[in-house]
Amino acid sequence: MIRKDLLPKLLSKATPFYFYDTALLRQTVEEIKRESSKYGYHVHYALKANTHDAVVKEIVSAGFGADCVSGNEVSYAKKMGIPSKKIAFAGVGKTDREILTALKAGIFSFNCESIPEIEVINELAMQEGMIAPIAIRINPDVDPETHEYITTGLKDNKFGINHWDFDLVAQKLKSLSNIELTGIHFHVGSQITNMGVFEQLSLKINKIASWFKENDFHLHHINVGGGLGINYDAPIQEPVADFKSYFKAFHDHIILEEGQQLHFELGRSVVAQCGHLISQVLYVKKGLETQFMILDAGMTELIRPALYGAHHEISVLTSDLPKEKYDVVGPVCESSDVFSKGIMLPKAQRGDIIAIHSSGAYGQTMASSYNMRDLVKGYTTEEL
Ligand code: LLP
Repeated sequence: MIRKDLLPKLLSKATPFYFYDTALLRQTVEEIKRESSKYGYHVHYALKANTHDAVVKEIVSAGFGADCVSGNEVSYAKKMGIPSKKIAFAGVGKTDREILTALKAGIFSFNCESIPEIEVINELAMQEGMIAPIAIRINPDVDPETHEYITTGLKDNKFGINHWDFDLVAQKLKSLSNIELTGIHFHVGSQITNMGVFEQLSLKINKIASWFKENDFHLHHINVGGGLGINYDAPIQEPVADFKSYFKAFHDHIILEEGQQLHFELGRSVVAQCGHLISQVLYVKKGLETQFMILDAGMTELIRPALYGAHHEISVLTSDLPKEKYDVVGPVCESSDVFSKGIMLPKAQRGDIIAIHSSGAYGQTMASSYNMRDLVKGYTTEEL
């Protein structure tokens, strides 16, 4: 999974750092392009997953748009050469300043999450003498069967507008003069591996789209968000997610009007498998019933295990000695700073190099400098 010939280059960099395998990233992006273009679908890359410049450049060169959740992400998308007309802007708490940034950029759509937000966008657009294109983010009450922290489309989540508010929203939309409803938007959760969830979502969307049609709204597009999961347990066997089944699930179940566009916002499935967190063993310490492998990377570099109990496969790149049982932990002063407990790994010692796999999405972007640690860096194959 990490090419052996890259080892000397990896060893020449100060750990911890992220390594992004450009060849796998390109293969993934090509696969998305091939499968989505079969049906003429539009793909936005969810920047929150990874904003390492060289990674984003690869994705931009495929012609994908961006899904942003902050004014800074909108500005970054523009700086990276993503055309404004391919930028969607979501989020439940857009500030006035962020709305103005996006208005001035002339983005594709504001994905609006509440009636008060629609009112503020209308007011700011009026002030600027503009018409803001908006899509209503709808909470379809579909269970994505994933971790509760990354579930967004259930009726008690903070995201989106619920069906019982539709009449109110319709009234609002008709009364405000500086917004134009261009679409509807959904995102039910992340790391979804059951394609049946996307089928269910499509069926719900069909009903909701009919409601808008019956109420005289013309929807130029439907945005189904992201959410496609990856195989964290077997990244070698499945380095590229099943984009074929994913896009087909929508194609088979969603009913589009003539000329209506279908948009996607993929994050994790684009970048997760190409990224590895590279770290060094600092100490091996005997515990009561276990031995701790203490790394120089911790929850500050990759918070997913501590925050969601997420599993990431781990390899020792510099040892092929017989396996022993380890608790792999970080150096941060928190008991939750654990990558994996009781796993079998080749016997390791101080200085051995470890790779924590499938960490290209929500790894570097969620890093912090807690304990005044240095913010982790990243390198693509070419940058090593
Ligand atoms: N669109 C919207 C509106 C979103 O909220 C998200 C992710 C995406 C698209 C991209 O979803 P994806 O294709 O990556 O599943 N930090 C968590 C994941 C949080 C996802 C937040 N929203 C993790 O590490 O698992």
